Formats: sequence, C-alpha cells, structure tokens
Amino acid sequence: MNTSRPLVLIVDDNATNIDLLVNTLQGEYRLGIAKNGQKALKYAAKHKPDIVLLDIMMPEMDGYEVCTRLKADPETASIPVIFITAMTETVNKTKGFELGAVDYITKPFQAAEVKARIRTHLTLEEMRLQLKSQNVVLEQKVAEKTAEIQDMLNASIRSMARMVEIRDPYTAGHQQRVAQLACAIAEEMGLSQETVESIHTAGILHDLGKIRIPVSILSRAGSLMKAELEMIKIHPQVSFDILNQIPFPRPVAQMVLQHHERMDGSGYPQGLSGDEILLEARILAVADVTEATSSFRPYRPAHGIEAALARIKQKKGKQYDADAVSACLALFSSKRFAFDFNP
Ligand SMILES: [Fe+2]
Ligand SMILES: [Fe+2]
Repeated sequence: MNTSRPLVLIVDDNATNIDLLVNTLQGEYRLGIAKNGQKALKYAAKHKPDIVLLDIMMPEMDGYEVCTRLKADPETASIPVIFITAMTETVNKTKGFELGAVDYITKPFQAAEVKARIRTHLTLEEMRLQLKSQNVVLEQKVAEKTAEIQDMLNASIRSMARMVEIRDPYTAGHQQRVAQLACAIAEEMGLSQETVESIHTAGILHDLGKIRIPVSILSRAGSLMKAELEMIKIHPQVSFDILNQIPFPRPVAQMVLQHHERMDGSGYPQGLSGDEILLEARILAVADVTEATSSFRPYRPAHGIEAALARIKQKKGKQYDADAVSACLALFSSKRFAFDFNP
C-alpha cells in the first residue's frame, strides 16, 4: 500500500454515480476514474490502486469480466474489489464473491457506509500484507537456523572422522578419499543429490568403529593373527552402534554397517547378498576397496590405482556391485576423477 493516501479506482459508466463517489471520497483518498472495463484494466495495471470500486452493469465489458481479469493477472490479483450494484438490479452476489470480490455496495450510496467499507477492506489488505512480510521474515529465519544446524551436524561428523584418523594415522585421509570417490560413483550412476549427500556422510564415518580396535593392531607393520583380523571385523557394527541414534534423513548407520558386505554373501558382519545390501553400501564397498588397495598400509606398500581397478574389475558382479564398478572404472579411465586428499 502507498505510504501517501490510498488510491481508490472508481469504475462506472454513469457520470452521476462517479460524481457522487468522488464527492464522498476525495477528502480521504486519491482517486482514479475509469468509465469502462478496458480503461479500468489499463489503469489498474499501470497504477496498482489500493482498492477498486467496480460497477457490475456496464456495456461491452461488465464488472464480472473486469474482476475476472484483474484476478487472473498476478500483478493485480491481490487488489481488493468491491462491487457496486443498484437496488433495482438483479445481480448474482454469489458469483461476485466467487470471482474474488470482497464486498458489495448498493446504490443509492450512503456516504458513511461507502467510507466504512473501503476503510475496512484497506485495513484488512494492509494486515494481510504485513502478515505476508512477517511470513517471509520467518521463513528466512527458519532457513538460516536449518543451515546452522546442518553446519553443526557437518562439523560434528567431521570431528568424529578426525577422531579415528588422529588415533590411526595410517588411515588418515582414507575416509575422506572413500567419501569423495563414493560420491563421484553415485553421481556417475545418476543418483539423487540427497543420496549422494548421505553417501558422503557414510563415507567419512564408515570406519569410525575402529576406535574400538587397539592402535597396536591397526598400525602393525607385519601380518595379523586370525584373532586380530576377527577383531578388526567388529568395526562396522561399532560404527553402526555409535551412529544409530543420530536422526540422519537417510539410513547412514545401515550404510556404514554394510560397507564390508559383498554381493555373493562372502562379506561381514551379516553375510548379506545382492539386493539385501543397500545400494549406498555397495557403492561404499567399491570406493573403500579401490582406495584401500591403491594406498599404503602398515602391513604392505601401496599397490597403486591400476592394481586397485584391476581387482574390482575382476570381482565385478561377484563381490562388488556391477553398476558401481562400471561407474568407478569409467571415472578413472576418462580421467574425470582424481583423489583430492593425498594419502
Ligand atoms: Fe571398513
Ligand atoms: Fe574403510
């Protein structure tokens, strides 16, 4: 609404009616006058009046038509329309309200009634606009708070990932690199952005459970005994137990739990196979083994990326999801992927 006096558009083909309304309203409002429907639409589009007083019975284009067109145009749709009808005219009031009018004024006019109705509807419109702007502010605040919470969650996730890496320097960066490759595979497979984000979270936390395993085992230079290997195998379950209480929008804890499952059922901890394993976990498995094989480990030198890719290619469709392997091979062969974090 204008900060100056509100602008009232009077639409009537009868000069006497116009004069009467002008005399009634000119002290309080700025006035616009249109003597037919076409001119009214033009005026409304150009000057955006605060309210329209609209005669129903007019030649060529009647008030109903004018109202319909005002409401159809987003620029003028919110302008309140009050219909003017003569007592003698049989008009369909319901139709007027259905078209979006807010009120009726009956001729002959009572000056006080005309003023009161206009004032009421201008006040209502002002309140509606205030409410709308308050809603915009509230929505912005909600969006800001949501982003803040998301940032905090992301920071917590990074901290948890760092805990593992500080304790176990040989896998430092492993989780970030697995997350990066797993996300690239998921994007290559055309998965949704939400899925890619959840895979990223699962990726940087997937070995969190290793905090339960003694550092002496994790960083042992020589080969491990059977019992020690069995101990390492508890880490997906431990990761799951830590993450299961966090209300992630996607089943991140399950993805982490399943990252050592294999398509042929030879994995752990549950020995799941095929579709029993979440697609996200199957992608993580491919990224995990590719990264781990290519990188240095305490008990062996780095095999390099070519050896890692040869390994997943050989076990494609057997241990590893065929689509995820194809996507991973395509990323490296086209040189569209390189690890950001150096081992
Ligand atoms: Fe793992
Ligand atoms: Fe891993």
